Amino acid sequence: MIKAKRIGHATFSTPDLDRLVEHYQEVVGLHLVARDGNSAYLASNAGQLAVVLEASDGAECTRLSFEVSPRMDFAEMARDLSTLGLKCEQRTDDRPGLARVLSFKDPKGTTIELFSEPLFVSKGKAVGGATPLKLGHLAFAVPNPRAMAEFYEQVLGFRTSDWIGDFFVFLRCNVDHHTVNFIRAPQTRMHHIAFEMRDAAHLHNSCDLLGQKRVEIVWGPVRHGPGHNVATYHRNPDNQMIEFFAELDRMTDEENGFFDPRPWHRDLPQRPKVWDPTQQRDMWGMRPSQAFLDFAR
Ligand SMILES: [Fe+2]
Repeated sequence: MIKAKRIGHATFSTPDLDRLVEHYQEVVGLHLVARDGNSAYLASNAGQLAVVLEASDGAECTRLSFEVSPRMDFAEMARDLSTLGLKCEQRTDDRPGLARVLSFKDPKGTTIELFSEPLFVSKGKAVGGATPLKLGHLAFAVPNPRAMAEFYEQVLGFRTSDWIGDFFVFLRCNVDHHTVNFIRAPQTRMHHIAFEMRDAAHLHNSCDLLGQKRVEIVWGPVRHGPGHNVATYHRNPDNQMIEFFAELDRMTDEENGFFDPRPWHRDLPQRPKVWDPTQQRDMWGMRPSQAFLDFAR
């Protein structure tokens, strides 16, 4: 069975490549590691490819990549996917750090790219911006989050970490509480992309940076209920939501089946559960602004 181990990078189309590259460099703090006519490749300060931007008419998340074990055989994975009725394509990749990629589409039309044994990419000169540790997760608005969760569980080996009612699901593929989320909405689209900061002090510094650059914090800082991360949200020039977060729950022992104990947990132990949507979920912080809520609609 295919088991995703880690999210690799997210690919976005954008009508203004220069403007979006500038945001990911100067605000988010990613390194521009390569650029050709219509594409830009950006990596974390730790040397992992995190975001690929491609010039196009629309602004959407077109592809998501996941790392699989170096022991996985690509031909075998292709057979497994075909058995599940998924058309896949294997290619020798031209993206920095990725030698080989197996791709197929998920039910909402996003191309999923599987890779193994990535190379760390050259960081180049120092960047400004928040400089996150890594790409953490992506959230999508979809009409049927349960069907999406089942697909990610069956095809990519994800596990369910939490539900909020029956409309918002958080899925993990490693110790991190979530790597993909799906929230119910009439239209399919990306809801937000999230980058992990080193710790709460780093997140605090990123708020100062957003303030200096006159980028509005649409929501936060707040400590969430599901995942218990502290988080802020701002928008990039393509009006896509970007989350900065720290202190996300981790399940280091899947056999125990609960998240590592933290003083802010109300459940002891904190196991995956269904959160009551009628109750206040966040541990502290302001409730989401109307601008944030409007994103999910
Ligand atoms: Fe998030």
